[in-house]
Amino acid sequence: MTGRLTIIGLGPGPDRQITPEAKAALAEAKWLLGYGPYLNRLTPGPGQTILPTDNREEAARAAQALDLTAQGETVAMVTGGDPGVFAMAAAVVEQVEQGPPAWRALDIQVIPGITAMLAVAARVGAPLGHDFCALSLSDNLKPWPVVERRLRAAAEGGFVIALYNPRSKARPWQMEAAFTLLRTLLPGTVPVIFGRAVGRPDENLVFTDLARADATQVDMSTCVLIGSDQTKLVERPGREPLVYTPRSIAAS
Ligand SMILES: C[S@@+](CC[C@H](N)C(=O)[O-])C[C@H]1O[C@@H](n2cnc3c(N)ncnc32)[C@H](O)[C@@H]1O
Repeated sequence: MTGRLTIIGLGPGPDRQITPEAKAALAEAKWLLGYGPYLNRLTPGPGQTILPTDNREEAARAAQALDLTAQGETVAMVTGGDPGVFAMAAAVVEQVEQGPPAWRALDIQVIPGITAMLAVAARVGAPLGHDFCALSLSDNLKPWPVVERRLRAAAEGGFVIALYNPRSKARPWQMEAAFTLLRTLLPGTVPVIFGRAVGRPDENLVFTDLARADATQVDMSTCVLIGSDQTKLVERPGREPLVYTPRSIAAS
């Protein structure tokens, strides 16, 4: 009785951005677990059972997947984007660390996916062309002063910043607080991109700058890219601008 757990990234939205490796792993699984909206993107095949779970219950969902795998089942845990980026892969590994010793012997594979910041970056040019970092703006899993410290360090370090989980009904003020902090550290002309639902039918891209960035245009389907002081916006006639961060910085 050999079970297998694959933790699969479905990419940002469109089917064409699901990798062949992810499709093959999905086809092999008997049980498909994950947050409902991600599972809704799949059509279960014959003999496959979908088990939707509450998005807030990561630890329980991970334990359920490991339990089924330990019973010899083939289980797929699906996530949006990449499973290792602010998603379920870490929750599963944490359960393996803390759970029954038998879970350490299980066959567990993580199948990568296109993460949101790469999908947004590709839509607008090459804003991540030089050094960058990714932060979750959510203070559900870490205290807000930690978020502020990391934003400050990223801006002072000259990194382009990709912000995930930027603003929700339950967290309405954090995005504006982040812009207010960053305005004290970076020029107001730094390009800012709001990439909303990229790759999906309701996709929306906003090109703005740090001085004018309006937090109320941001929601939980948005990945926010904030340029470094090197990032530039190239205007084009009749087309959306291209945003890029040059590959090199001259020695000073
Ligand atoms: C819990 S995180 C999961 C990230 C995911 N694992 C990934 O690699 O993209 C959810 C956040 O990802 C971002 N996101 C996910 N899909 C997106 C898309 N299609 N367009 C823009 N942002 C997206 C948003 O910032 C959202 O709040």
